Amino acid sequence: MKTLLQNFRIVDELIDAIGAVLIHDDIIRDVCLKGEIIRYDIGHWSVDRVIDGGGLALMPAFIDLHAHFRDPGFPEKETLESASLAALAGGYTTLVCMANTKPVIDTFEAAQALKQRSDALGLIDLYPAIALTRNMAGEELSQGLSRVRPGSVRLFSEDGKDVADDALFLAAFGQASRLGIPVSCHCDAGGHEVEQARRAGQPRSVWSRIEENVATERALRLGREANAHVHIAHVSTKEALASIRAAKTRGESLTCEATPHHLCLTEVDATFMGDESHGRVNPPLRGEDDRQALIAGLLDGSIDVIATDHAPHTAVDKEHGSPGFSGLETSFAACFTELVSKGRLSLSQLSALMSAAPARILGLIDRGAIKPGLLADLVVVDTEAVWNVDTTLFRSRGQNSPFNGRALSSQTLMTLRRGRVVFDRDLLVKQ
Ligand code: DOR
Repeated sequence: MKTLLQNFRIVDELIDAIGAVLIHDDIIRDVCLKGEIIRYDIGHWSVDRVIDGGGLALMPAFIDLHAHFRDPGFPEKETLESASLAALAGGYTTLVCMANTKPVIDTFEAAQALKQRSDALGLIDLYPAIALTRNMAGEELSQGLSRVRPGSVRLFSEDGKDVADDALFLAAFGQASRLGIPVSCHCDAGGHEVEQARRAGQPRSVWSRIEENVATERALRLGREANAHVHIAHVSTKEALASIRAAKTRGESLTCEATPHHLCLTEVDATFMGDESHGRVNPPLRGEDDRQALIAGLLDGSIDVIATDHAPHTAVDKEHGSPGFSGLETSFAACFTELVSKGRLSLSQLSALMSAAPARILGLIDRGAIKPGLLADLVVVDTEAVWNVDTTLFRSRGQNSPFNGRALSSQTLMTLRRGRVVFDRDLLVKQ
């Protein structure tokens, strides 16, 4: 099957130009940009299908390093299928899902079983993260940490907490380093300072801030000792970011991510939504100075990736304080609205943060850009669209979005995986 996508604004990490993309089955065969010397006269290709973009943007599909699929164990919050459909609606085709399920994903077999179920659905490419310790109990290393088949597991993570015991955490980093697999650190393990703040009756935002800063330093130190690739998840404070920047300056092997909600919202929004209910997320929404520091971090390369930390919950769970936001369906538009529309980032820079950089971290050299030979995993975006977020229309079961009711600029219209249209808001002309 040959598909011609013509008349698009083609945007990836390196390109931003009008042109056409030729797909043969699941692979990008050619990219012709206006003004370039045309290597193929695309008019002479006999194609089976033409998708005319009429100037819409065509980008590499997004890659998420951090999503909570809640499967197995929490179907009232999300399922593999609902998360996959939400991902496609948000323009994602490759995702890492976290291990805090029931049971915990702590063995290679459990990760494989989930991956196989996902492959059978045929919607997305899923790479389940494996927990560092058995049942995420922090007592002994997980079986999955020592027995994985390279390629099918691309990230380890203890998820919403790091390993409290230094020696065990160090051993986990050591094993990950031997396997050449990065460890995503959630940086929620507190230490004495946090206990003191807690006992002194400080508000959660204060001890959580100390917690993140202390835990980031600790993960960097132990990761360095083990020569591991540390990936810091959802950095949110300017102090944690400064530690990361300093480590990068020293040449350490490390990457980090920021979430759309920490880049777009602050503690003022959290208070408005309810600090201990609908506005609650780990790490919490921070101050405006933190938010600005994160944006500066995107620009100077201290932050490598934008990851959703998609964390769907039921309305009742949210009401009772479960932390997290349903993020897959708003992440691109939220970042576009706050960063691209306001002139802080170019669309190419946003593409790098959402596709090329996460592909590199996962070692997926076959995606993340629009280049001949790469997988035809693509997303069509209307950068002129303005829409109101209505969570009742989400594919995700989690309607806990802090952007509900807000107007966002730009919208994902169509997602292709391996050249096949897997999501379509049904606006494009086809033949
Ligand atoms: O707010 C959050 N919720 N942050 C996390 O890191 C985990 C997540 C969850 O699993 O609900």
